[in-house]
Amino acid sequence: MTITEPAYAKLNLTLDILGKRPDGYHDLRMVMQSINLKDTVSVTFKERQGITLVTNLNYLPRDHNNIAVKAAELFFRETGIAPVGLTIRVDKHIPVAAGMAGGSSDGAAVLRILRRALAPDLPEADLEAMALQVGSDVPYCVRGGTALAEGRGEVLTDLPPLPDCLLVICKPGFPISTPELFSQVRLHRLRCHPDTAGITAALSGGDLPGVCRRVYNVFEDVLPRKYRAVGEIKRQLMDLEADAACMTGSGPTVFGVFTDELQARRAVETLRRDYPQTFLTRPVGRCAPADKCG
Ligand code: C5P
Repeated sequence: MTITEPAYAKLNLTLDILGKRPDGYHDLRMVMQSINLKDTVSVTFKERQGITLVTNLNYLPRDHNNIAVKAAELFFRETGIAPVGLTIRVDKHIPVAAGMAGGSSDGAAVLRILRRALAPDLPEADLEAMALQVGSDVPYCVRGGTALAEGRGEVLTDLPPLPDCLLVICKPGFPISTPELFSQVRLHRLRCHPDTAGITAALSGGDLPGVCRRVYNVFEDVLPRKYRAVGEIKRQLMDLEADAACMTGSGPTVFGVFTDELQARRAVETLRRDYPQTFLTRPVGRCAPADKCG
């Protein structure tokens, strides 16, 4: 038996860092949005024990250092279900180490598939608690859609969907390490913070211009100079008539929000000349439990 699920990328419409926690992590407040740029994850259940990972990107780890394998191992450990043999196939299209939770989304898709096949009565909250042990973004990725994520990222509140728009995604050719960027943050020096209440109110009112005005990521304010391409892409997107442009997560991917499809397509064409990993995407809604995802 094989089950396949889409693993959508996410964008941060906002990202705020509120404080450092005793466990070494940071308390965050983020408005997250799934987009239709996706990996495809399939799990084949086998007679023979063991977890095998197959992927189209041969430089990715294939052992427990891959978040998809880690998620499967954790699922069996936490549910107490006797492990069965699995082949996990991950067709990756989301850029890696890009701030779009590609790996987290693969892990979340594995958890959704295993619940559907082996523990259909497992509550969503239990699955999300398990997901947190895999990574801070994984609980959000289990549900997807538009959501406020607080705490480490696991305290989730569904929000009204982002009004339909086009999202141009542009990933420059270097990765940014999340721990490295967190280490740049001096909390007392963060002078600007996103207007999270304002953006959630704008979402509730279906007010896309109100959302665009409030798109903001505090990581941009601590980006080392070597990552200045991020600012350059933002400027290019605004020059190309985006209604907003912002870095997502810990970067380096930048997204631009457009309402006019021709302008969005023109932006993709222009940016692709310098940045081959440029995509035209749209927002997608919440992954419902079981087989209603997508
Ligand atoms: O949870 P995850 O493994 O995805 O986090 C990667 C790194 O990002 C952590 O090791 C930590 O340095 C940082 N992080 C943080 N606070 C969070 C989430 C991540 O400091 N809420």
